[in-house]
Amino acid sequence: MPATNRVRIFDTTLRDGEQSPGATMTHEEKLEIAGLLDEMGVDIIEAGFPIASEGDFRAVSEIAKAMRNATVCGLARANFKDIDRCWEAVRHARSPRIHTFIGTSPLHRAIPNLDMDQMAERIHETVTHARNLCGDVQWSPMDATRTEPDYLCRVVEIAIRAGATTINIPDTVGYTYPRESADIIRMLLERVPGADTITFATHCHNDLGMATANALAAVEAGARQIECTINGLGERAGNTALEEVVMAMKVRHDILPFETGIDTTKIMNISRRVATVSGFPVQFNKAIVGKNAFAHESGIHQDGMLKNARTFEIMRPEDVGLAATNLVMGKHSGRAALRAKLRELGFEIGGNQLDDLFVRFKELADRKKEVFDDDLIALVTQNEGAEDRIRLRRLRVVCGTEGPQTAEIALEIDGEERQATATGDGPVDATFKAVRALFPHGGRLQLYQVHAVTEGTDAQATVSVRLEEEGRIATGQAADTDTVVASARAYVNAINRLLVRRQKSAPGEDVKGVSYRDAG
Ligand code: KIV
Ligand code: ZN
Repeated sequence: MPATNRVRIFDTTLRDGEQSPGATMTHEEKLEIAGLLDEMGVDIIEAGFPIASEGDFRAVSEIAKAMRNATVCGLARANFKDIDRCWEAVRHARSPRIHTFIGTSPLHRAIPNLDMDQMAERIHETVTHARNLCGDVQWSPMDATRTEPDYLCRVVEIAIRAGATTINIPDTVGYTYPRESADIIRMLLERVPGADTITFATHCHNDLGMATANALAAVEAGARQIECTINGLGERAGNTALEEVVMAMKVRHDILPFETGIDTTKIMNISRRVATVSGFPVQFNKAIVGKNAFAHESGIHQDGMLKNARTFEIMRPEDVGLAATNLVMGKHSGRAALRAKLRELGFEIGGNQLDDLFVRFKELADRKKEVFDDDLIALVTQNEGAEDRIRLRRLRVVCGTEGPQTAEIALEIDGEERQATATGDGPVDATFKAVRALFPHGGRLQLYQVHAVTEGTDAQATVSVRLEEEGRIATGQAADTDTVVASARAYVNAINRLLVRRQKSAPGEDVKGVSYRDAG
């Protein structure tokens, strides 16, 4: 058992999380999220997969240069070209790390068509090469939980001898179970020579809903690094959620006596930012960060809460950075009050951005008597970005029982205003058709979803739109008291993101062409 109870938090929101279809982030957004991760005390940030595209390379190198505390890591398949490119991207970090991996289970060995000995040789060569470049090397046997135990011990030993300083055990397809997750770590610690000289990490996916439990079980057995993402973002059912494992170790310190360096009061803010920039809204009843995680609707619960909050609460909202009050703002609230309120909600906003927000806040307060915290959050997290090629200027719709429903729209496209009118099956359909007339694209609508941000008929609507074009997926979001305006903005936002996605996967670099699933 390792002597230390300090568990390192390795965040892979920007790599495994961003790889999730539709979770595109722009360059600026990635830098912003990395900054928030660094501030909240994440030990290692996996910033991307540098060989995958120019965009990934640039993001990893800039994050590497900018982080003040965290180790910055890049992913590389088991070949020299990937590893060299990864090193080029991370080398300027205060603390760089190369993370190289290969699939070791029978199914994954069959892809590069390597037998057990050939794969062992490849692991030795590539880890040695990485270690010659960087003093901090992490190695992962992908699909470890479906790899034969003897072979897993053999390849882990080879990687340690070749210089790996962290060995990560991925449950790539979310197949394992807590007892098994613990047994694997215990087996490696007992059987592999040199296992006591390195750190074991656990990397779980949530296909069976056990990612958090599996990660914690691995820690109890001796793993001292958890790989996770904010909101559990990630392909399919996602990865272990950072907020869940961190809060579990904090709240149940009596049975999980482990320490992390995370400032938990920063959790809500980063959760909201990741939800907004990734376009993946957090489900209302999601543990820790869901809208309802601290809401007590039933009379019995409310009564108990008023008498003693601990009757129905195992942690305080403030512990995760949720403001204890929901003070209402209105049209008479000034700039300073807005700024203070935003700070309380975890948004440090000043200068031009505050001026712009104040104008939008006043507009909203004119339309809506009471502006709640969630309204402000929706306002701040509007997705319009400096890089957007298309912007909504004006929209007028005709709707009601007498058709045809019509939309007249003005968009700014690459700095030039253009207008179009379209009819459709309802105002939203007409609006989307008018946008498409002005900016034809191949994106197929996969999802259109509307939620009310607060209660009341004047509540803002948050709209999510997901588009798919040749395997690329992009999600846009927007909020407005007018549902059709929110829909138009969300649609435009999704198109802007699709354009970023297109750039990211330039010819020869298709998103599916260079994937971490390839053997390399
Ligand atoms: O799930 C997985 O196996 C991975 C590896 C690349 C570590 O993400
Ligand atoms: Zn993964």
